[in-house]
Amino acid sequence: MQAYDLTQTALKKFSPEEQEIALSTQNLRVFYGKHEQIKGIDLQFPRYKISAIIGPSGSGKSTYLRSLNRMNDEVSNARVTGKICYRQLDINQRNIDVFEMRKHIGMVFQRPNPFAKSIYDNITFAPKQHGLKDKTKLDQLVETTLKQVGLWKEVKDSLTKSALALSGGQQQRLCIARTIAMKPDILLLDEPASALDPLSTSVVEDTLAQLKTHYTMIIVTHNMQQAARVSDYTAFFYDGRALEYGATSQIFTHPEIKATDDYVSGHFG
Ligand SMILES: Nc1ncnc2c1ncn2[C@@H]1O[C@H](COP(=O)(O)OP(=O)(O)O)[C@@H](O)[C@H]1O
Ligand SMILES: [Mg+2]
Repeated sequence: MQAYDLTQTALKKFSPEEQEIALSTQNLRVFYGKHEQIKGIDLQFPRYKISAIIGPSGSGKSTYLRSLNRMNDEVSNARVTGKICYRQLDINQRNIDVFEMRKHIGMVFQRPNPFAKSIYDNITFAPKQHGLKDKTKLDQLVETTLKQVGLWKEVKDSLTKSALALSGGQQQRLCIARTIAMKPDILLLDEPASALDPLSTSVVEDTLAQLKTHYTMIIVTHNMQQAARVSDYTAFFYDGRALEYGATSQIFTHPEIKATDDYVSGHFG
């Protein structure tokens, strides 16, 4: 592996006039046991924009993303330090109600993982758990969220059928619908299209573009074309650090950091 100067970074900072920030991290570090995997990441994610996280396999993209809604709490050997700022609150503090916080910051995983339940129940499960009981409201929620992910026409006559009978691409859109049924502010997506065929991938990408008017999204992708297609801002991760962050067009056409340049131009390694 080529040695890069890891002290040099080019991280865009937004002024309040320029952009409202939905979520940011300050000096975020993740340790697996004694090993420091995420080495102090400072990033700001603008509201109603899509930010992509790119970088080589093992650079810590998933680890970082999982920290943002405290999914690493579930990983027994993981310890997360630093601040995660959401609405004037540091949600990395121990006294945060994680169950409540995840209503605001939802996650979609790499492999579509619908529940072994009907399409209808997949969407209504979490809202019911959080106290929504009214049948008319639940019906409306199912219809609006399925419309938001462009799945309504395909499944409106089979809402009682098992979600597992859907295609991979439909399952992933259902998982996005299930997440937005909780009306989150922020959607975290970890390689949401990597298990899908090219056609389903393009439908999922279109879905994300549609959702941008209402949601702030942070998407991890190893697919650089995808990052270039869907995102407004891109962060380049390398060895547990964010080396460069800026407008996607700038990152892909004239990056400031050598490692970013090598990565986006395919001369990496
Ligand atoms: N629970 C864990 N314990 C120890 N190491 C882990 C654990 N989870 C992930 N890792 C390691 O952390 C590194 C970064 O992983 P990850 O965040 O998944 O990277 P990426 O998503 O960029 O491929 C990898 O080397 C991975 O093996
Ligand atoms: Mg990953």
